[in-house]
Amino acid sequence: MTPASTASPILPAARLRGRLTLPADKSIAHRALIFGALSGGPSAITMRSPGRDVLSTIECLQKLGVSIQQSGERYEISGRPWRDAELDCGNSGTTMRLLAGVVAGLPFTATLDGDTSLRARPMERVATLLRAAGAEVTTTEGHAPMMVVGRASLMPTAHTLPVASAQLLGAAILAGMSAKGETSIETPGSTRDHSERMLAFMGVPIHREGPVTTLTGPARPRPFELTVPGDPSAASAWLVAAALHPDAELTMAGVGLNPTRLALVGLLQRMGVDIATRITEVRGPEPVGEIWVRGGNPLRSVKISGGEVADLIDELPLIAVAMASVDEPSEVRGASELRVKETDRIAAVVAGLEAIGAQAEELADGWRVRRGRPQRARITTHADHRIAIAFAVAAVAGVASAVELDDPGCVAVSYPGFWEDLGAVVA
Ligand code: S3P
Repeated sequence: MTPASTASPILPAARLRGRLTLPADKSIAHRALIFGALSGGPSAITMRSPGRDVLSTIECLQKLGVSIQQSGERYEISGRPWRDAELDCGNSGTTMRLLAGVVAGLPFTATLDGDTSLRARPMERVATLLRAAGAEVTTTEGHAPMMVVGRASLMPTAHTLPVASAQLLGAAILAGMSAKGETSIETPGSTRDHSERMLAFMGVPIHREGPVTTLTGPARPRPFELTVPGDPSAASAWLVAAALHPDAELTMAGVGLNPTRLALVGLLQRMGVDIATRITEVRGPEPVGEIWVRGGNPLRSVKISGGEVADLIDELPLIAVAMASVDEPSEVRGASELRVKETDRIAAVVAGLEAIGAQAEELADGWRVRRGRPQRARITTHADHRIAIAFAVAAVAGVASAVELDDPGCVAVSYPGFWEDLGAVVA
């Protein structure tokens, strides 16, 4: 049942019960580390079980000369980035794009590279933004490796982003913090707003109004202490598993309940799932609390398009599995951004859905899917954590009769304890 490294099959669970504590939110963790480094410190972050992507950000900041000392779940940060470096961002697009924004605003040069997956992802968009602010950026035909020659002072710029991407927005914000004057960034749709919330909390004059984020530089965050909430995108695995299972009730505590990350909760409600959230505290700038979900309800089909997509972007592979449990066809459109994630997630999702017996059709910008006859399948993850977790959930919930993953270990990119937590909820 818990194939940490072997390819033993994942089987439908008899029932799902329990209370889970999730790994630290990946998006908040990257930003807390970077803003902590820019604060000069001493800043301290407490985070549970960070995934490999967050460790990539820690290692890159250390290469830039920042001191990050770990003691259990506490990471103490002091000193600002102060030297040239060659940065290995591993599998992490967030690390690469946000750190490109950091280096752009400092008088240093960095090369940023990553694994095969990251080298295939688009970097010209971030390069264009940073060039507009005055940094010198070279990509390798639009991809990593990328070289950023920063400047101590950039130009305040009015950016219009080509896609609703929190990573691009974050990079533009970071560059804006080194510019003298007002930088504005318009996004073509909603994105997660952790950068704005955290920087405002740390004293940076920044605000978001509708689609436009505005900040005034030069600005340096105040040193801070933060306990990173549990990752709602990790919670999503259990929300979908329980929603699809006839005998399931799960509670997750200490989860980040930022509204820009809770679109899946609303979507599952639309599909007919019993699900509720409860804020129990506010941690720094982020609401935190519990999510409760119960299975057993028949689900309705659903259509997702355009404006909804960015807030569901990491959850779409799991949503595809939920859609595959419903007789009527469901659809995702306007999600071509999925083609440039850790792998082409439209192709990987549709191939996986067909392998588990669902009726699926690939569209240029999404998919159409309905229930088929659950089958045993071997899933090619393309080393993509979200594909691995989505099809593990398909098996646990009985949407597949059994699933073998070619690379179960890749879940550690965002959720190192996934197999242990699965073992706990099925026990
Ligand atoms: C992230 C933003 C999202 C998401 C990624 C994390 C972030 O990407 O897919 O996992 O922390 O900014 P985009 O907003 O660039 O699509």
